[in-house]
Amino acid sequence: MKAFLKWTGIVLGALLLLLAIAVAYLNASTKSRLARHYDIQPPAVAIPNDSASIAEGGKWVNSLCASCHGENLAGAKFFDAPELGTICSANLSPGLGGIGKNYTETDWVRAIRHGVNREGRPLLGMPAENFQYLSDEHLGQIIAYLKTLPPVDQQWPAANTTLFCNVLVALGAFGEETLPAESIDHRSPAHYAPPRAATAEYGKYIVQVGGCRACHGPQLNGGPHPDPAGPVSPNLTPGGALPSWGAAGFVQVMRSGVTPAGKELNGKYMPWKEIGRLDDDQLQAIYAYLMAQPGLATAVVKK
Ligand code: HEC
Ligand code: HEC
Repeated sequence: MKAFLKWTGIVLGALLLLLAIAVAYLNASTKSRLARHYDIQPPAVAIPNDSASIAEGGKWVNSLCASCHGENLAGAKFFDAPELGTICSANLSPGLGGIGKNYTETDWVRAIRHGVNREGRPLLGMPAENFQYLSDEHLGQIIAYLKTLPPVDQQWPAANTTLFCNVLVALGAFGEETLPAESIDHRSPAHYAPPRAATAEYGKYIVQVGGCRACHGPQLNGGPHPDPAGPVSPNLTPGGALPSWGAAGFVQVMRSGVTPAGKELNGKYMPWKEIGRLDDDQLQAIYAYLMAQPGLATAVVKK
């Protein structure tokens, strides 16, 4: 009996030691990924200064950025939990605690298209993997608008992640795009946007920069929400509910947040209000693209 207990103790001790080594290793691996320095000098993008282009940039920003950076773009808590740590989306304005005052045009391009901040640190949770596809024209309009933001004073704590969070990141629990800077091709040439019209081709572009796949799945037939507390994201291909809505019905859903079946979409997990700020032809283009997809059965999502 004594010998048995002794051996059980040794085996348990060895397992615990192995676990501790694994945790330390995963923690260190995420820490080194977060600490990696990216030296990126992106080619300049032409920044327009006419009022029509700035207004166009404002529309992109209100639909692509406000869901995380807040209505006034002064930032918000992206996640904040004792077990995970704190990451805040930045205050983009030139106010106190805002980055807008010091950011150069090159800094904006580096953050939006490459997912790397002014100091060369990879940004966490900032969807540059989608924004890398923005055309030079649209990116220029976006930066032109950001340069006109009124100052808002708002300080946020520096990013910090706990050991538990680092282990989850290392295990890929937040998806492959946790640090978009790792997967972006940083030498990529200037990007192209198809001509603006209610076409599937233009819709494909908006679905890409709008990041619908991050939630609705790589094939758009449904997927788990990146936030474990969020509901399952539905099937947007013709295999789901959308064909019976028609283009006008789809535009209506994005403007009202209510589906023809009377279901209210939860704006906390589905950014319908921001998407609904796109113009009619842009929303119709999204619908045309979705309806041009193969009608897939709804993905089975484990919750
Ligand atoms: C899904 C949420 C999300 C969306 C959408 C988003 N961001 Fe961010 N962004 C973040 C988070 C989170 C951070 C902070 C990341 C960090 O500190 O590691 C960030 C950081 C940034 C930074 C870097 C700030 C710094 O500290 O230097 C810039 C610039 C930025 N975002 C601009 C934008 C713009 C412009 C858009 C729209 C085109 C946008 N973001 C859309 C989440 C988002
Ligand atoms: C952050 C995650 C997220 C992103 C990004 C996102 N969605 Fe959603 N979407 C959801 C979730 C979750 C629901 C279900 C909401 C609910 O049940 O309240 C949803 C619901 C929908 C619905 C209703 C479908 C139905 O059958 O009821 C449509 C349409 C839709 N999204 C389109 C889009 C489009 C188009 C984009 C990109 C421009 C997009 N979504 C981006 C998470 C997301």
